[in-house]
Amino acid sequence: MPETVMDKLVSLAKRRGFVFQSSEIYGGLGSVWDYGPLGVELKKNIKERWWRSMVHEREDIEGLDAAILMHPKVWEASGHIAGFTDPLVDCKQCKNRFRADDPRIKGTPGQPDAQCPVCGTKGSLTVARQFNLMFKTFMGPVEEAAAVVYLRPETAQGIYVNYLNVLQSSRQKIPFGIAQIGKAFRNEITPGNFIFRTREFEQMEMQFFVKPGTEGEWFEFWRGERMKWLQGLGIRAEKLRWHQHGKDELAHYAKDAYDIEYEFPFGWHEFEGIHNRSDFDLSNHQRQSGKKLEYLDPATNERFLPYVVETSAGADRTALVVLCDAYREEEVEGEKRVVLQIKPSLAPLKAAVFPLVNKDGMPELARRIYDDLRGAFNVFYDDGGSIGRRYRRQDEAGTPFGITVDGQSTQDQTVTVRDRDTLKQDRVAAGQLAAYLKEKLAG
Ligand code: GAP
Repeated sequence: MPETVMDKLVSLAKRRGFVFQSSEIYGGLGSVWDYGPLGVELKKNIKERWWRSMVHEREDIEGLDAAILMHPKVWEASGHIAGFTDPLVDCKQCKNRFRADDPRIKGTPGQPDAQCPVCGTKGSLTVARQFNLMFKTFMGPVEEAAAVVYLRPETAQGIYVNYLNVLQSSRQKIPFGIAQIGKAFRNEITPGNFIFRTREFEQMEMQFFVKPGTEGEWFEFWRGERMKWLQGLGIRAEKLRWHQHGKDELAHYAKDAYDIEYEFPFGWHEFEGIHNRSDFDLSNHQRQSGKKLEYLDPATNERFLPYVVETSAGADRTALVVLCDAYREEEVEGEKRVVLQIKPSLAPLKAAVFPLVNKDGMPELARRIYDDLRGAFNVFYDDGGSIGRRYRRQDEAGTPFGITVDGQSTQDQTVTVRDRDTLKQDRVAAGQLAAYLKEKLAG
């Protein structure tokens, strides 16, 4: 089979240290991935950018870091125990499992004409049954029903149960929001496509609490803000589109929802959602906990349960979007090159420093430059192999600038700076490099 773009990206991600399969030496763990030295930087840059724009740059949003483990009643109130399920069918012949709505299934599962998409047997698929996607574990030493706790399937609930704590301690007033970045877990039936759908992932979620009746305007406001933010990541606008959920697609908590979709090499798929959750969560928590969660409006003395507009993005999926969007195969001077044209401010490494040859004072000067830059930028030192090869390695890593110390450098303390995308070289005074990079990395 010919290698697909995804195959190439997965192999580049491993080769350059972006993403490795979890527990690879044991054969891997299904749909769980580890971030290597470059991957962790890329994901961190995305998360930091999100946090800066959501929390630091806004007066009306506070940050939170709630625990992954929560009281099991949270998940009763949120509807996840009853409703966070996918319909599952088994093939009695080959023992494979599928989501009942898997488009490869021909016919209705459970009926004699239904055909297994893997082994092709007719009538071997069971009737669909609901499978809960939450991971269960036990709190304390006794594995009994009373000790069951869940790994959170979304970070949002940690925000709802803390909304009054945050409101009161931060002295915010409605409308205001709470933002959180953290791990979430789902026992997906059909995970796959690399880090697109995994069983452990990170979410960047913000819940915006508003007065009932104003949720429509806020919903539109946040749709606009989120699309702007994504375009600010340097993602090509023509690869992004909206998808409004139809009645049959809406999650159990949502009154209205829009996905932001990206055209991945495997098709258009969601990587962020904007949801109108009304007072679904707060009213259920109020009922289940017996605690009043109403807001007292200091201006009007009115009491009400706020409505919630949620923006929910996956950090891993956003990283995959950035990688897919940046991947290019080009021809340079008759040679093929693979390059990740990641926006410089998001790139894991900002620059690489190379002595042209390992003699005549070049390594010493290159080391000095590397040590100077390290305080402010994530930079890399490479003196191995031909300069062309060193450039190619950094192109694959998405490093925007290559700084080369050559014969002239030791005479006049200038270096060449090669731009990853235009391949143009500037001659820059070594003492000006930090200012040069700072300017190029803005935005
Ligand atoms: N709190 C709302 C919520 O969780 P969602 O649409 O189920 O909504 C939001 O998930 C985002 O989380 C998705 O757009 C996606 O980016 C990410 N996500 C969800 N499930 C995922 C999975 N199994 N693997 C990777 N990312 C996932």
